Amino acid sequence: MKDINTVKNDFPIFKRIYNGKPLVYLDTAATSQKPYSVIDSQTEYYSLHNANVHRGVHFLSDESTDLYEQARIKVQKFLNAESSTEVIFTKGATEGLNRVAMSYAVSALKEGDSILLLDSEHHSNFVPWQEIANILKLKLIFLPLELDGSLDLKKVEKYFTPGVKIISLAHVSNVLGNIYPIKQLAKLAHSRGAVISVDGAQAVGHIPVDVVSLGCDFYSFSAHKMYGPMGVGALYIKKSLHDLIPPFEFGGGMIRTVSLNSSTWAPSPEKYEAGTPNVAGAYGLGIAVDFINSIGMDSIVSHGEEITGYAIDRLSSIDGMFIYGPKVAAERGALVSFSLEGLHSHDVAAVLNAEGIAVRSGQHCTMPLHDKLQVNSTIRASFGIYTTKEDIDALCDAILKAIKLLRGA
Ligand SMILES: Cc1ncc(COP(=O)(O)O)c(C=O)c1O
Repeated sequence: MKDINTVKNDFPIFKRIYNGKPLVYLDTAATSQKPYSVIDSQTEYYSLHNANVHRGVHFLSDESTDLYEQARIKVQKFLNAESSTEVIFTKGATEGLNRVAMSYAVSALKEGDSILLLDSEHHSNFVPWQEIANILKLKLIFLPLELDGSLDLKKVEKYFTPGVKIISLAHVSNVLGNIYPIKQLAKLAHSRGAVISVDGAQAVGHIPVDVVSLGCDFYSFSAHKMYGPMGVGALYIKKSLHDLIPPFEFGGGMIRTVSLNSSTWAPSPEKYEAGTPNVAGAYGLGIAVDFINSIGMDSIVSHGEEITGYAIDRLSSIDGMFIYGPKVAAERGALVSFSLEGLHSHDVAAVLNAEGIAVRSGQHCTMPLHDKLQVNSTIRASFGIYTTKEDIDALCDAILKAIKLLRGA
């Protein structure tokens, strides 16, 4: 097992110096940094194995197909899915969530049916539903959030009326940080004849995900937020739904037979992966899974809680600081969003940048949530396995500097 305390050495980007300062990267929720093994996997794939998959008899096509399918099995095990046919490679969480909205809703929902969402959802799990609701005349219903962003299951229960056909929500909120009770919501959904789609973008790589124990019907995520490459991700679709859900796209690689008058489809996953896939990306995602496994999810969870708890403690002591979401680290993912009285988040982020500290400022693709919070933008510091307490100290020192500079105090 790798030691989480020295794992930062596996990430070449931390050799970067900016403005004479070492890089403090606190924007992992936007994208994580990549370890050598993932970076090297891309060169290795294109240098040694590059060929199209599932369509050649030559050895390179065999190797490429093997690497692609092995990656699928790694993802299956990572999610504890029952079958590798339940793992569909996508270009990321956004694609997965769009596929669920467009394909599932079109085949299973009818005018007047309802979709349950949270108003804190990332636009990627909100706009697709808004669009399909407009097209099919469906209703969007928002579950009530408590002040700290959590859900009170007793209050939520009554929202699962007979017209509700699907609930789609984040496993971990990308702004408030809440970890939502997917298992209980899945039970509730299933007991009322609905299904559950989970946006796992901020969960994978930080907390264990077991789609069977959680009871998910759909689970979407991106590789790039879990130390893997950009432009690839996966959508888990429970096997029992494969017959109901039509292909997403049509073309090469997804058919069983084609004649001039009609065509039939290959089974999943081919059915859902038309065209040449991102083989190098999928391979890199598998290598990212290996990397996470080499550290161990238990260490990742306890490190995330320790760093997040430390950040909440240190940030709370700053004058004019407002932290969003739950105050208990164990109830949230590895991120903290905050605002500073009288200061614009972009101004603060610009001062932090000059100190070599990368945070995200803005609305983090959650405009409805920011409207509800009545705040034009927030600052988000988000953490990864390479984040240290020294990084948090540097953040807090730089915030104090920003306050002094911007308030002229
Ligand atoms: C909660 C959540 N969902 C979905 C996404 C979209 O992920 P991607 O841009 O990788 O498709 C993000 C990205 O920030 C996110 O935080």
